[in-house]
Amino acid sequence: DKGTYPFYMLKEIDEQPNVMRKLAQVYLSETGEPVINEKLLNSMKQADRIYIVGAGTSYHAGLVGARLFENLTQTPTEVHISSEFAYEQPILSKKPFFIFLSQSGETADSREVLVNVNAANYESLTITNVQNSTLSREATYTLLLHAGPEIAVASTKAYTAQIALEAILAKALGESDNQIVAQRFNIRQQLGLVATGIQAIIDAKSKLEDMAKKYFLNTPNAFYIGRSLDWSVSLEAALKLKEISYVQAEGFASGELKHGTIALIEDGTPVIGIITQAKTAGLTRSNLQETMARGAKIITITTESLAKKDDDIILPDVDELLTPLLSVVPTQLLAYYTSLNKGLDVDKPRNLAKSVTVE
Ligand code: M6R
Repeated sequence: DKGTYPFYMLKEIDEQPNVMRKLAQVYLSETGEPVINEKLLNSMKQADRIYIVGAGTSYHAGLVGARLFENLTQTPTEVHISSEFAYEQPILSKKPFFIFLSQSGETADSREVLVNVNAANYESLTITNVQNSTLSREATYTLLLHAGPEIAVASTKAYTAQIALEAILAKALGESDNQIVAQRFNIRQQLGLVATGIQAIIDAKSKLEDMAKKYFLNTPNAFYIGRSLDWSVSLEAALKLKEISYVQAEGFASGELKHGTIALIEDGTPVIGIITQAKTAGLTRSNLQETMARGAKIITITTESLAKKDDDIILPDVDELLTPLLSVVPTQLLAYYTSLNKGLDVDKPRNLAKSVTVE
């Protein structure tokens, strides 16, 4: 039941702080240590490489997860689009471990990969929101997202839940292997900061409603740009805008713009820069300037510690590995309000189904 909300999507965006708290409650002990199935951790510890597989938003959550696993566990991690992996399998390492990300647990493209993984006798984990779903039943292990039902076709809280759970799992795995970075990563404190941070963004949503009107209502296209984790979020931000507001949007590695795509920038093209990583903040800012010089209207999403005078959306600081949990939220709201202002059916965009059970 969506209660007083006009659409499920807004309700589900609003639920994200609670989803963060719920995951901490389910997967962390009273002292803030991860509580994860020992067998699962042992299987993962034996792996020489992690393969994350997913589609759409779940694939995007995997891109962030790969950074978390590599940073906190030092295990090389690859991320693959399930429909590609199914028919063009990369050369696997000697001891692969597979993680399937799927909100519904029913995505046919991902299942096709899991069938092959099982046939080869490799171990796997499904991270899903739906208990007893196909991908959950057929994988060796399951971790549930506990996000509550996600009804809107556009995935929001499942994305943030997937990333938060990947972070908890990476922390657990890294710690069990005595990785110092993992030991120092205070997941409980961070998830608390993330929950209050998301709430602060939601509380200031009227600003995003105005921006959606000003920048997106009458544009045929838009660009989200960023580097590293900010690029991963750009892909997700663009998908959200495309699928519910029908604005042609691209998520772009900001350094790649000058290698071709900048030719598309015209007077008034919205370019949104996501700037949350200290190492690349200055570079992305220069890339934004380059688009502005060609007429782009720029919006910046950044963190308190990296903020400059004219920035538009300023996110509270959290560990740099977890900034996607915050930076995605304004982009969800921008997509929501654009769709709403266009009078579209936010929850049921054309041509799409909530779970895609055909290949
Ligand atoms: O249920 P899944 O997470 O496996 O679904 C994967 C995609 O179909 C899904 O994330 C899709 O991209 C969403 N509509 C995006 O908002």
